[in-house]
Amino acid sequence: MAYKIAKLPGDGIGPEIVEQAEKVMNAIGEKYNHEFRFEFGITGATAIDQVGNPYPEETHQLCMDADAVLFGAIGDPKFDNNPKAKVRPEQGLLEMRKRLQLFANIRPVRTFESLLDKSPLRADLVKGADFIVIRELTGGVYYGEPRGRSEDGNKAYDTTIYTRDEVVRITELAFDYARKRKKKLTAIDKANVLATSRLWRQTIQEMEKDYQDVEVEYMLVDNAAMQIIQWPTKFDVMVTENMFGDILSDESSVITGSLGMLPSASIGIHTSVFEPIHGSFPQGAGKDIANPLATVLSAAMLLESLNLVEEARKVEAAVDASMNAGVVTQDITRGKAYGTKAVGDWLANYILKS
Ligand code: IPM
Ligand code: MG
Repeated sequence: MAYKIAKLPGDGIGPEIVEQAEKVMNAIGEKYNHEFRFEFGITGATAIDQVGNPYPEETHQLCMDADAVLFGAIGDPKFDNNPKAKVRPEQGLLEMRKRLQLFANIRPVRTFESLLDKSPLRADLVKGADFIVIRELTGGVYYGEPRGRSEDGNKAYDTTIYTRDEVVRITELAFDYARKRKKKLTAIDKANVLATSRLWRQTIQEMEKDYQDVEVEYMLVDNAAMQIIQWPTKFDVMVTENMFGDILSDESSVITGSLGMLPSASIGIHTSVFEPIHGSFPQGAGKDIANPLATVLSAAMLLESLNLVEEARKVEAAVDASMNAGVVTQDITRGKAYGTKAVGDWLANYILKS
């Protein structure tokens, strides 16, 4: 079968890591007789430089017409602390989420035995942690109007808005994930303070009766931030609103010591987007040192979304094998460090040979 994949490498190390995921997918294509047609689109700082827009219409159309989007990373330090920049690369990301209606961001967080000593937490605390953060991605304070500044510049405001339907659709998805896993859902909010959080909690409470096989626990976000550090192994599936999810998903990803290993999927109404959770690492760009594994594992999630389950498992097996063989980049090696490209080549070769 032929699949159309929109390839959006973005900025910094984006192009190098996406290239390795492409190699891996092509190897899968060869082995399992699929054709992946990669079509390139510009985004982020690169797109601002070229056409003045971080998510140009052409790129949007490319995504809309594709079966899936493989995304690298966006962001460039030249836009930081630069109040004169009219448009920032991140706006492209927000625009893409909104226009593709990617209402759910899925981040699986798991530990890798060989990386436990890279965790900022004690290995015995994180060992076995395996949970999924499901973050609402197209609502809340990121998009609420009104927002702005008073005329004298001394007051600023943002608005958090959620509708019941927005809560229902992401919670349904979260319950489905929980059903396929350990059947535990943690709903995270700030219902002791925020009206939107009370709507979230009430809505999820009403939905519980339809999912009696899933245990639901409600947790305030500050408490959740603490418990993720104290007992990371007690979580299974978490669901939360946009900004809480932004913060908790970064916190969650770093406790495993595997920031360069964690993939993500953003899914919604139109084409789904798959990307590593780490950023564009501009200092590493072009040096052939970036760890491509998070992007490769994102490609595995992509394959699974196309119902290519065996193929997805094969990619994951290749990643495990490369780690066992010590064919990994400098950030996670215990001995010799391999370059980004060498890791990609090794993975592709493993897939073809095994
Ligand atoms: C993320 C990022 C973005 C967000 C930024 C870059 C706008 O932090 O994807 O988590 O806040 O959503
Ligand atoms: Mg973030």
